[in-house]
Amino acid sequence: MTQRLGVNVDHVATLRQARRTSYPDPVTAAALAELAGARQITIHLREDRRHIQDRDLRILRDTCQTLLNLEMAATPEMVKIAYEYKPDVVTLVPERREELTTEGGLDVTGQREAVAKIIKNLKDGEIIVSLFIDPDLDQVRAAHKVDANRIELHTGRYCEARNERERARELSRIVDAAKSAAKLGMSVAAGHGLNYDNVQPIARIQEIDELNIGHSIVGRAVLVGFERAVREMLELMRNPG
Ligand code: PXP
Repeated sequence: MTQRLGVNVDHVATLRQARRTSYPDPVTAAALAELAGARQITIHLREDRRHIQDRDLRILRDTCQTLLNLEMAATPEMVKIAYEYKPDVVTLVPERREELTTEGGLDVTGQREAVAKIIKNLKDGEIIVSLFIDPDLDQVRAAHKVDANRIELHTGRYCEARNERERARELSRIVDAAKSAAKLGMSVAAGHGLNYDNVQPIARIQEIDELNIGHSIVGRAVLVGFERAVREMLELMRNPG
């Protein structure tokens, strides 16, 4: 089975916010991504609202035809917003104002009780909860202990590997973490930094059933159009070799 592609439309909003215009609209991009075969729309509502705005979440909740995955920090403000808009999935991510993008996974081992409490709260609201973690077996076990439905493995280090040896090592960490999570009964997603050149080894991992990809798709969409950019990514995922 081909993995589900979740298209992250944050950087459509980045372009809009650069000029504080009303275009390009990530809501329109989400509709085009769905028409091209995306089976999930992913957005990250950051504390500093640097790209996605509350308005985007509100409209996408109404218009999204597939699954809406809200990435957010584990804060009381964000939990309140999740309760108000009820995305299908919440992915808890660490967040630091000064970072360019999400730099590491959530440290679940270091804050088990707090994470467990937020997960319970969200699950009581019938929201599926995923934890964005590094491909580390301790973090996988901790995610299971705090009762997460899913994990999303951070592929950043694999994508940024400087040579083949390093890349192979990072890939095997992802494979091990995915197998271990699947054995524990959690579903497994992956994402961050994936592009048209590095996606296929990740698309070959049986235990991973979803990829969330944003920057590379939006970057290509500027040049070739959104639907074509999504279709070309799906083609690589469907035939990963
Ligand atoms: N998954 C998670 C949890 C993320 O935080 C991000 C970045 O917002 C992505 C996937 C998508 O990463 P990229 O834009 O590098 O494809």
